[in-house]
Amino acid sequence: MYRTHTCGELRLSHEGQKIVLAGWVHRRRDHGGVTFIDLRDRYGLVQIVASSETSPEAHKQMADARMEWVLRVEGVVNKRPAGMENPNMATGDIEVEIQKVEVLNPCKTLPFLINKEEEVEEAQRLKYRYLDLRHERLQNNLILRHRVVKFMRDFLDVKGFIEVETPILFKTTPEGARDYLVPSRIHPGHFYALPQSPQQLKQLLMVSGMDRYFQIARCFRDEDLRGDRQPEFTQLDLEMSFVVRDDVLALVEELYTAMLPVVAPHKHLLSSPWLKLSHHEAVERFGSDKPDLRFGMELHNVGDIFVSSEFMVFKSTLQSGGVIKCLVVEGCANYTRKEVDDLTTFAKEQGGRGLATLALTAEGVKGTAQKFIRAEEVAALQQRTGAREGDLVLFVADQRPVVNKVLGALRLLFRDRLNLVDKDVMAFAWVVDFPMFSWSEEEKRWDAEHHPFTMPQMSDLDKFDTDPGSILSDAYDMVCNGYEMASGSIRIHRRDIQQKVFQLLGLSDEEIQLKFGHMLEAFEYGAPPHGGMAPGVDRLIMLLADEPNIREVIAFPKNQAARDLMADCPSVPQAKQLKELHIKADISN
Ligand code: AMO
Ligand code: AMP
Repeated sequence: MYRTHTCGELRLSHEGQKIVLAGWVHRRRDHGGVTFIDLRDRYGLVQIVASSETSPEAHKQMADARMEWVLRVEGVVNKRPAGMENPNMATGDIEVEIQKVEVLNPCKTLPFLINKEEEVEEAQRLKYRYLDLRHERLQNNLILRHRVVKFMRDFLDVKGFIEVETPILFKTTPEGARDYLVPSRIHPGHFYALPQSPQQLKQLLMVSGMDRYFQIARCFRDEDLRGDRQPEFTQLDLEMSFVVRDDVLALVEELYTAMLPVVAPHKHLLSSPWLKLSHHEAVERFGSDKPDLRFGMELHNVGDIFVSSEFMVFKSTLQSGGVIKCLVVEGCANYTRKEVDDLTTFAKEQGGRGLATLALTAEGVKGTAQKFIRAEEVAALQQRTGAREGDLVLFVADQRPVVNKVLGALRLLFRDRLNLVDKDVMAFAWVVDFPMFSWSEEEKRWDAEHHPFTMPQMSDLDKFDTDPGSILSDAYDMVCNGYEMASGSIRIHRRDIQQKVFQLLGLSDEEIQLKFGHMLEAFEYGAPPHGGMAPGVDRLIMLLADEPNIREVIAFPKNQAARDLMADCPSVPQAKQLKELHIKADISN
C-alpha cells in the first residue's frame, strides 16, 4: 500500500492516527537534529518531521532527500506544539512524525523551482511541461477546467442534449483557417482534413433527428497564433433542431449564468439578462465586434459638428465620405507632447493616418487640433460627449472601418493604462445581426463572415444578386471582456439557399459538389430547421482563471510557432513512412 491518506486531507481530527503518505518533497528545513519536509500531492501540503534522536534512520533519509524526490513515509499525526500552527496551510494545525521513509524515486536538478513561481522563460516551461504542471496555479487551472466541462455536461444532459463524438479524420470544414491534412496510405494522393469544427457533422446529426446534440469537441486550425488562439483547441459544440435564434441564446445564457457562481464564485455578471447589441451598434459605439463592456468611454460620431470645419484633415475626410469620431479620455488633458506623439504612433500602427487631439486644460483648450477647431465647435463637442475640463479628446478622421478600428484599439489601450475595469466582472453580451458576407480585397471575392452554412436573414434573401454586402445573417457571437467567446447561427437547411451562398462565395458547381455534395444532398431528405453555437472552452477558462493567454489553461499547449517543445514536434517522419504514404517531400522551396 502506497498511502492511507493524501497530504492535503489531514486535520486535527486525525490526531494520534498511524498513517502512510506518498508525495513530493516540496520544501525541506533542517534544524539541528530535526528535519522538516513539506510533502506535496495534488490535494495539498503537509509538514512531516523526523528527529535524529527518536528515529535516526528516518531522519537521515529525510535530511538526504532533495527537492521533488518522491517519498513514501509512515508516521503518526500530532497536534503541532502551541504557537507553531500555520494558519496559511490547510493542514497547518498538525504535523506527521515520521518513523519510516522509503525513497520511491529521486529527482534530477530541476530546470526551475516548483515550490515558487519565478520568472521562467516560457520555452523552458513548455519543454518541461510535466514539471510546470506541478505548479499549484496550473493544477488549479486544470481542475477549474474539469469543473467547467463537468458543469456543462450535467447541465446539457438535464436539458435533453446527447453528447455524440464526431470523426477527427474527416473532410475540409471551413471556418476561415487552413486545414491540417492527413495523408491516406490506402488511397494514394488522398487526404483527410482534420475538422476546423464539427460544423457539418452536427448539422447532419440534426438531419438524423438527434434534436439536441453537444460535444466537448477538439478543433484543428492552421492559422496565425495569438494569446487566445491555439492550433488545436476545445469548443462546447452544440446544435438544436426547431429553434430560432433566441432559443439558442437563452439556453447558453442560462448555462453560463448558472455555472458562474458554481465554478468561479468570486466572478460576477455585469448584467442579467445579458446585453444584446447589433453588430453595427457594437462597432459604432465601441469600435469592436467583441466589445469590452466593463467600462464606458464610447466612441462619438462628431462629423456633423465639423461640417464647415476648415481643418483640412476633417474637411477632406467628410468630402470623401469618411467619418470623424472621437474618444474622451478623462483626466489626461495634461499629457505631454511626447505622450501625445506616442498615441499618434499607436494610431498609425493600427492603420490610421494620424490622430488629432484636443486637451481641455484649466488654462484653456490645447492640443494638435486646437488651432483648427473653433470655440463653438468645442462647445458643441462638450455638449455631445460630456467632455469636461481635465479631459483629452482624441479624434480620428477616415473611412468608417479605419476610424472604428483605431479608436477601438485606443479605447482598450486606455482601459489598461488607466485601470478602468474590475477584473472580476464578467461582461457577457450577445452581438447579433452580423453582415452575411465581407468583401475580400485580396482575393476579389465575397467571404462568409461566419461560415457558409449560416442562414441569411429571410428579409434579405432578395439582395443576393443586387447588394450582397448589405445582407444580414442570422449569426450571433457571445462576447466577454473584449474576447469573442462563442459564435453560432441559425443554419441553412434548404438546398437552394445553400447553393446560392456557395455560388456567391465563388465556388464552381463542381467544387460545391466535390466539397459539400453530401450536405446539399442531406438537405433534400427532410432536414429540419436548426441552429446552434460553439463557445470556446479555453478562452472561458482563461478569463475565469485570470490568465493572460490560453496556453496557461491547456495541459500540453503548442508554443506561438505551433510547436510542442516537450515532445519536439512537428518532426521529420522516417523515409519509410513517407513512402508508405506515397509522399515525396520537396522542402527546398
Ligand atoms: P468559430 O470559428 O467562431 O465558430 O469558433 C467558435 C469559438 O471557438 C473559439 N475559438 C478558438 N479558441 C482557441 N483557439 C482558436 N484558434 C480558436 N478559434 C475559435 C472562440 C470562438 O468564438 N462551427 C462554428 C460555431 C457554430 O456556428 O456553431 C465555429 O467553429 O471562442
Ligand atoms: P497634417 O495636416 O497631416 O499635418 O495633420 C495635422 C494633425 O492632424 C496632426 O496632429 C495629425 O496627427 C492629425 N491627423 C492627420 N491625419 C489624421 C486623421 N486621419 N485623423 C485624425 N487626425 C489626423
